[in-house]
Amino acid sequence: MEIVILPSAAEVGLLAARKISQLVTRKPDAVLGLATGSSPLAIYAALAAHVRDGSLDTSRVSGFALDEYVGIPAEHPESYAAVIHREVTVPLRLDPARVQVPDGRAADVEQACERYEEAIRAAGGVDLQILGIGANGHVGFNEPTSSFASRTRIKTLTERTRADNARFFDTPDEVPTHCLTQGLGTISEARELLLVAQGPQKAAAVAAAVEGPVTSMCPASILQHHRRVTLVVDEAAAADLKLADYYRWTYANKPAWQQL
Ligand code: F6R
Repeated sequence: MEIVILPSAAEVGLLAARKISQLVTRKPDAVLGLATGSSPLAIYAALAAHVRDGSLDTSRVSGFALDEYVGIPAEHPESYAAVIHREVTVPLRLDPARVQVPDGRAADVEQACERYEEAIRAAGGVDLQILGIGANGHVGFNEPTSSFASRTRIKTLTERTRADNARFFDTPDEVPTHCLTQGLGTISEARELLLVAQGPQKAAAVAAAVEGPVTSMCPASILQHHRRVTLVVDEAAAADLKLADYYRWTYANKPAWQQL
């Protein structure tokens, strides 16, 4: 794992965006895995700025969202279809036909999940998956005890996740109880993973994911088994890392061409 610790949340977004820009410049038809929530917003804002100033062409980029709530209409401003459209597709000027979100309203959920897996395969797989991390160690909405082999499926959200996401809704009761999420097996097949975390509420989860045992109690610990993972975190999210000084030293002493 490459672990990059930066002084501020703003710098996390800028550096992660630089890494994605480099990929899209190298591979204009890159397939990006898209996370929602607060963590990646600064990335999308920075990428949008590159698109506006003409330094990044995203017209051939495809995107697959990690997850979607079940039980709220697509038009709801907090459905992930709406969030991805507002925060990613429009500002990054992606072709809407190339952006997909699991269908949380499908009558046949199982079939919708299979279709989603098939669409990812048909696109050639995900080149780079952007990830946030839940305070309980979830990635996507793979809550603790999710199988490391899991594929896109319906999951029940934990009370912790519902409470954490209540800030996006008028009342806590409005937070859906279920979601469709790419599985840990699905996420692991992305050719590269980029996880960003900011703030002290993520410190325990980041430490467990990076330095703890690989266990389904911390789904993000599956990242330890992937060969190309970058974590970009701010000081607050890095606070519980035992080897933080080692990661700082390692990154600072890389040749410039190997730094992000
Ligand atoms: C979002 C997702 C989740 C979030 C995580 C962190 O698509 O899959 O895993 O990344 O819950 O959320 P924030 O960034 O809002 O703290």
